Amino acid sequence: MLDIKKIRAQFPILNRKVNGMSLVYFDNGATTQKPQSVIDAEANYYTDENSNVHRGVHFLSGLATDKFEETRNTVQAFIGARHNHEIIFTKGTTDSINLVANGYRTLLGEGDEIIISALEHHSNIVPWQMCCKISGATLKVIPLLDNGSLDMNEFDNLLSKNTKLVSVSHISNTLGTVNDIEAIIEKAHNFSAKVMIDGAQAASHVALDMQKLDADFYCFSAHKLFGPTGVGVLYGKEEILNVLPPYQGGGEMIKEVSFEKTTYACLPHKFEAGTPNISGVIAFKQAIDFITDLGVSEIAKYEEELLRYVTAEVLKIEGLKIYGTAAHKSAIISFNIEGLHPYDIGLIVDKMGVAIRTGHHCTQPIMDRFNIPGTARISLSVYNTKQEIDVCVKAIKKAKLMLS
Ligand SMILES: Cc1ncc(COP(=O)(O)O)c(C=O)c1O
Repeated sequence: MLDIKKIRAQFPILNRKVNGMSLVYFDNGATTQKPQSVIDAEANYYTDENSNVHRGVHFLSGLATDKFEETRNTVQAFIGARHNHEIIFTKGTTDSINLVANGYRTLLGEGDEIIISALEHHSNIVPWQMCCKISGATLKVIPLLDNGSLDMNEFDNLLSKNTKLVSVSHISNTLGTVNDIEAIIEKAHNFSAKVMIDGAQAASHVALDMQKLDADFYCFSAHKLFGPTGVGVLYGKEEILNVLPPYQGGGEMIKEVSFEKTTYACLPHKFEAGTPNISGVIAFKQAIDFITDLGVSEIAKYEEELLRYVTAEVLKIEGLKIYGTAAHKSAIISFNIEGLHPYDIGLIVDKMGVAIRTGHHCTQPIMDRFNIPGTARISLSVYNTKQEIDVCVKAIKKAKLMLS
């Protein structure tokens, strides 16, 4: 059993007031709050350790490098990767997907196909459109069923010997759907296609084991799992990363440079051009330690309980409709109330200290699929409580009253 009071005590921001009310932070899908250990690690780097990594012989450079690489080892263990050089540090999920899509521009050509799904975040749509435009490959889309799950029969129909890559989310940031990525990976591999999983919404909610999962690429952002912004992870299988061309050129990613020719560094440095977000990467270790100490399966169990509770409570509000009712869901509730604009709901509940997100959540094709302009979204984390859900539901009811 998790001690939620103790967990909350680690997040200083949860004590603050918003509009004179206690903050109820239900926008964890956008970014999570940070525990004191992460905040301290960032500050401590600049206070006591600041130096560039991988380049110096002096003490501080060695210290910063060791701590930076320690995070890489921690990520490796956290996701069960075979090698630490299969962990590439990026700016975030968007950057990780762009890195791979940029590389595939040169690996694909006319007649090749990439499959994504209808529930993707724009960051798992646009880079593939750009990739197709330049390479001549074709983009195919797995459609959505009414409950917000993927139409796996259609996926079977889309797969062919032309499929070179499948890129889908592990968990939808809008609908909360947990996709059956094990089945997707197996089916795609049967056609020798590679698979990239966008794990932005999954990495702190689902235990990950890359070797068991057998994904070719998996990516996520540190800031969605209690870590700093501007840090992301791209996991890739060694043999594939070795053939993928570098994303950006510059310092750190080279072996030798002359005006005639440049040879590239080995993994992971081949994909880490330039000075990275050193303090962020170092502090990210604290975020992973925080999750590991609690246990991902304990977190998932608690969040499931919150999901059941919030679902039952919001459905008591007359005229409220939830978008995304798949059997396997994460603690994300997108909803609309008949006759009300989600934006207005968001504004009014904010006056009561409740932070929810409104809009298309960077998933405009989902909005088109359900023929709606946007939704209001509650996304929960391990530090949230049933009492906070009660406050939120009360605020939504009040908003409904005021707007009707
Ligand atoms: C499913 C999903 N993919 C990708 C992203 C993009 O993440 P980032 O903005 O950290 O690059 C998000 C962010 O909300 C997301 O939810």
